[in-house]
Amino acid sequence: MVTGYWVAGEAATSDATFEVHHPYDGSTVATACYATDADVERAVAAAHAVRGEFAKLPAHARAAALDHVGRRLSERSEEIARLITAENGKPVFWARAEVGRAVSTFRWAAEEARRFTGELQRLDTDPGATGRMALVRRVPRGPVLGIAPFNFPLNLVVHKVAPALAAGVPIVLKPAPKTPLVALLLGEILAETDLPAGSWSIVPTTNDKAADLVADPRLPVVSFTGSGPVGFGIQRSVPDKHVTLELGGNAAAVVCPDWADLDFAAERIATFAMYQAGQSCISVQRVYVHRDVYDEVRAKVVKAVQALGTGDPSDEATRVGPLIDEAAAQRVEQWVDEAVAAGAEVLTGGVRDGATYAPTVLSSVPADAKVSAEEVFGPVLTITPVDSVDEAFAAINDSRFGLQAGVFTKDLQVAFRASAELEVGGVIIGDVPSFRADQMPYGGVKNSGVGREGVRSAMTDFTEERVTVLTGITV
Ligand code: SIN
Repeated sequence: MVTGYWVAGEAATSDATFEVHHPYDGSTVATACYATDADVERAVAAAHAVRGEFAKLPAHARAAALDHVGRRLSERSEEIARLITAENGKPVFWARAEVGRAVSTFRWAAEEARRFTGELQRLDTDPGATGRMALVRRVPRGPVLGIAPFNFPLNLVVHKVAPALAAGVPIVLKPAPKTPLVALLLGEILAETDLPAGSWSIVPTTNDKAADLVADPRLPVVSFTGSGPVGFGIQRSVPDKHVTLELGGNAAAVVCPDWADLDFAAERIATFAMYQAGQSCISVQRVYVHRDVYDEVRAKVVKAVQALGTGDPSDEATRVGPLIDEAAAQRVEQWVDEAVAAGAEVLTGGVRDGATYAPTVLSSVPADAKVSAEEVFGPVLTITPVDSVDEAFAAINDSRFGLQAGVFTKDLQVAFRASAELEVGGVIIGDVPSFRADQMPYGGVKNSGVGREGVRSAMTDFTEERVTVLTGITV
């Protein structure tokens, strides 16, 4: 049986099938199909046609649909977590966490749908506008093309779908070719709602077809999560569109000398450098530790990394599974080998077995080595001593990326300096850069992206202000 796709809220199939493989053992998880050109056209035409009707759908109807989806995700959570593990290779421990987050994301979207509104602005601040008042509303920019990545096959899909539906904006979603199954399952749940036909479609397509979708003028907003070259290529190809890009990073954590609980810092760093085999844009990649505590932290981090259960992602105890495919693991291996050739020392790990790369800690890594300067997107962290907060902050900012940073400190001055001086989209005090709550603004500066996700932020991005000036207002 093939797994079909969703066009304007209805199930469809085609003869253009492809297999989805389990990254751990290579087994076939399911056979899915690419949407036909005619079905992609139907999806886009329906999104365009329904845009006016959908914008007018009352908030209570949109919120009820979003609440329903959250509830059903929760009811089917174990099935969905197992499917995430099967198509992505993420340990079931982390897959469950992802489902929990998606449930929350829909809950937030339902809540934001109810309160998302405009503002009244007084204009009688100058004699020329006496008796006038502005009603500033947010209206949809137009249907959204959402392009999702493989690393969070559910929650990063949800971060496009839920805010769009909450704001009354139709969405055509292209799931990641390696991990389309959970997105397609989400379609089953969306199909249980009364959302108008055309308000959502989920269409697996090849990357060539994605270029046609990106260029289609009926989809004036493109929300992309993935690699920098692809994202910036999209932005360059459609300068007249509203494009939001969630791209990569080489997230850093700093351990300051005032931070007393070094066990906590080491355990958090180890866990969030290696979770989902490092395939998160905010996994800990670079660690800067004050020299006063460097030896101690380094030893604790290595010990914590070695304690992480590796292997079959379906096992309850596994914390680090395979990468998405063998090619990804080979690239990580090559980058580590290059760093070692340039003088880096492997403190633990450094070995590949098929698609699995052992959790790896490197020291003495040159700043320009790819494992430090580029996004490694694998289970590798670098650890480096620094003599001051200044040196650590300068090292963090000496990067073409800027997504999130974590600073282990209790010193309020250092915390405020971090907030002011670090060139990133988010600063996490007292924890790793990998912390993300799904309602908060999330996104990067520099090569890490443009725009912000997080339910309300994405709703803002998918809409624009429209001002209506009222005259003759005497009170
Ligand atoms: C990402 O990889 O950009 C998403 C991280 C997250 O949602 O935790």
